[in-house]
Amino acid sequence: MNQVIENILTRRSVRKFTEEKISRQDLELILKCAAYAPSGMNKQTWQFTAITDRNKLDEFAAVIGNELGREGYNFYNADVLIIPSNVRDGIWSKEDNACALENIFLAAHSLGIGSVWINQLQTICDKPVVRAFLREWGIPEEHVVHGMAALGYAETEPSQNVEKKGIIKIID
Ligand SMILES: Cc1cc2nc3c(=O)[nH]c(=O)nc-3n(C[C@H](O)[C@H](O)[C@H](O)COP(=O)(O)O)c2cc1C
Repeated sequence: MNQVIENILTRRSVRKFTEEKISRQDLELILKCAAYAPSGMNKQTWQFTAITDRNKLDEFAAVIGNELGREGYNFYNADVLIIPSNVRDGIWSKEDNACALENIFLAAHSLGIGSVWINQLQTICDKPVVRAFLREWGIPEEHVVHGMAALGYAETEPSQNVEKKGIIKIID
């Protein structure tokens, strides 16, 4: 099996991270992979914002937890949060961001870094308390957030004993 296929098949969501920091070089490489994802009509209307400041991440998580009524919410203690954002009325904003997220997950996995999709902003990114953080981080007002990526080193390797039961058919 080639390494690309193996990387795809062995990527699993990680929900418990160590305190180990992701190097700037690895983070930049992961962000580059995000930007190399396909996008509808190659519009590339997205932005990728990576937050590495632990205190800011904790504050942001607390605000999200408060909005969603989830006390103790903390992005699984991830080292980095990548926030892909995209234009509100873009026809393919959501699809483009999903492609970029998968590139992020696969790139991270290939570098030995764990990741998981974080969906919590989807319904609350326009709440003033949330928008205040996005504004501070230079995320344009006309951008919305569909999904984010939490990254870090896995505390324990996720099990590969998974059942993937998508229906596959080949019609000859
Ligand atoms: C659209 C979408 C939203 C998701 N939201 C979350 C989330 O908010 N929190 C979380 O822990 N995992 C989230 N996940 C990760 C899925 O739970 C995970 O991919 C699935 O259980 C399969 O496991 P695997 O990634 O290890 O193959 C999301 C995945 C997708 C595609």
